[in-house]
Amino acid sequence: MKKLLLLIILLFPGLALVADEGMWLPSQIAQRINDMQSKGFKLSAEDLYSINNSSLKDAIVHFNGGCTGELISNEGLLITNHHCGYSKIQYHSSVEHDYLKDGFWAMTREQELANPDLYVAFLEYMEDVTDEVLKGYAPGMSEEERNSIIRTNSDKIIKETVSKGKGLKAKIAPLYYGNQYFIWVYKVFTDVRLVGAPPSAVGKFGGDTDNWMWPRHTGDFSLFRIYAGKDNEPADYSPENVPYRPKKFFKINASGIQEGDFTLVYGFPGRTNEYLMSHAVDYTANVSNPHKIKLRTLRLDIMNREQEKDPAVRIQYASKNASVSNSWKKWQGERKGIYKMNTIENKRNYEKEFAQWAADKPEYNGLMEEFARLYTQIEELSLVNDYQKEAINVIEYVKYAANKAQTDSALFYKDYYKPIDKDIFIALINEYNNTIDDKYKAPYFKDKLAEMGSVEKWADAIYDAESEELAKELYVETNNHFNSEYKPFLDSINAQITLLYRKYMKGQIEFNEQTGGDRVFYPDANSTLRIAYGSVKGYSPSDAVYFTPISSIEGIMQKDNPNIYDYDVPQVLRDAYATKNYGKWDVNGTVPVAFIATNHTSGGNSGSPVIDGNGNLIGVNFDRVWEGTMSDVVFDPEVCRNIALDIRFALFFIDRCAGAQHLLDEMVIIR
Ligand code: ARG
Ligand code: GLU
Repeated sequence: MKKLLLLIILLFPGLALVADEGMWLPSQIAQRINDMQSKGFKLSAEDLYSINNSSLKDAIVHFNGGCTGELISNEGLLITNHHCGYSKIQYHSSVEHDYLKDGFWAMTREQELANPDLYVAFLEYMEDVTDEVLKGYAPGMSEEERNSIIRTNSDKIIKETVSKGKGLKAKIAPLYYGNQYFIWVYKVFTDVRLVGAPPSAVGKFGGDTDNWMWPRHTGDFSLFRIYAGKDNEPADYSPENVPYRPKKFFKINASGIQEGDFTLVYGFPGRTNEYLMSHAVDYTANVSNPHKIKLRTLRLDIMNREQEKDPAVRIQYASKNASVSNSWKKWQGERKGIYKMNTIENKRNYEKEFAQWAADKPEYNGLMEEFARLYTQIEELSLVNDYQKEAINVIEYVKYAANKAQTDSALFYKDYYKPIDKDIFIALINEYNNTIDDKYKAPYFKDKLAEMGSVEKWADAIYDAESEELAKELYVETNNHFNSEYKPFLDSINAQITLLYRKYMKGQIEFNEQTGGDRVFYPDANSTLRIAYGSVKGYSPSDAVYFTPISSIEGIMQKDNPNIYDYDVPQVLRDAYATKNYGKWDVNGTVPVAFIATNHTSGGNSGSPVIDGNGNLIGVNFDRVWEGTMSDVVFDPEVCRNIALDIRFALFFIDRCAGAQHLLDEMVIIR
């Protein structure tokens, strides 16, 4: 363990990375600081991450476990994306108070809206705990023994750690496929109130049409406020709570950015798989993604059709539709990117070289054959698993009926529209039935279908008769069948694959070192805080096309079309544009809206602060360009770009369109 650690550390310093690839651990950012400073960063490693003093990490939160947010005032004001606050904005919306459509602005603290299911987590510190976690493990033990030791040790460490303070939570997770283990300790706040959101026509401008694409004109931001007890410590919601006073908050740089400027994204990317071997990439691109895309197309077509018919249904399914569509579109881009980069071929070639190098090393010899053997064994079952999850478990009523004990029925029905769900049932169950080999189907499934006569009649029996029992049986019987017949096998093969990856990871690092390679191995994202840095930069997505890196209000107006839902610019913006009355936010007669940069980001980086060389906020990350979505698997410096809201657009909107000057007064804005 120690040896690998040393190896990784030795590999970092001074190594000029060709591309801006990489998501670095804040606690080890000192190893990259020279490179960062050579590219325009003016602060120190301690300014970014420090255990003894306050540092920029103290101004960043994991927002409800899936996004990132950052503090922008010393009174707990937080900015994140509109799409990160979306389900909360929707939760407070009704046909009478449609905050999704019209936006929402609390003009006083009293008007800020509490959210029962929302939390934010500040990282207190992170630490390598590999030795403690593996205490009692000896080489030669089985994976089961190893896992059980890890679990016992981790539980103990976590228990001790969280007992030390109010609202503490800790997580221990592997890095480099279990070559290293870290602990992340968080302080969690649960009283987080909605402060402001622009209309969806701004915050989601371009909708799913523009999602994952550049040029982009989405004002993707929303504002929340963290509340704490009188002692400034975490406290459950109470009207007595007071705005949280953070250790650190971001100052805002409103003087603007230009192509070439240094940028740094500090947030919580969810999951990347940069070190997969060719088989796995092949499966993802050629089998799994196409099937999942097809299943989601079926669902989306039905939702879209019904949402267009009825404004109430449009609100009910707004958030659901967006989340189904988001991965659906990303998978399509990812697949194209993997092909364009020739990833499978390249990985195969690399694996050949690795195998040659490994031939005389017992630890690594034969790894590739083992991978191939194991992956082949689970290929069919993985698809059955995908279908269980994407074709059966997503049917709303079926899932609800099976999990009723843990579900709030009122909440479920608030956003439920039976005609959509019934049609989705028919489409997905037919697809499942036609695609999955009979031998993998649960006896219940086959018997019931035969008894009913058709999927359509089965749907009638569940939906027209509102038979919770029938719906529940489908969920329970198919999942139980899968879990008892196939899951143990799948799990055991996957455990063996993980073990291979642990060896392969270690082997790749040694291979690189011994053959004089210059590759740097950053750990895959795992929903923990990371730093990515790069610069503002345009790109060429295809022959004869070049995209410049900064968009403006001009582009919003060019897309304006009252007849297309996604492009129906709100009147406040049309008015501001007509008079070009942008006040102090005017930049050469317009207002910037979004920009792209070369930072390596992933899902979960939404809402992340994008900062300049001085550590001031210049943007809020919200997306990646479509041509670069394969960066979770393979990074192409030519086209991989993150997309950020230009903070100046948020300031402009809050001031000129929302009239919420009091919020700007809380911020520290540098111009
Ligand atoms: N693609 C962005 C992300 O992955 C934005 C998603 C929300 N927007 C949408 N139109 N669905 O989170
Ligand atoms: N929109 C993504 C999110 O919600 C960030 C974009 C990405 O995947 O890079 O986290």
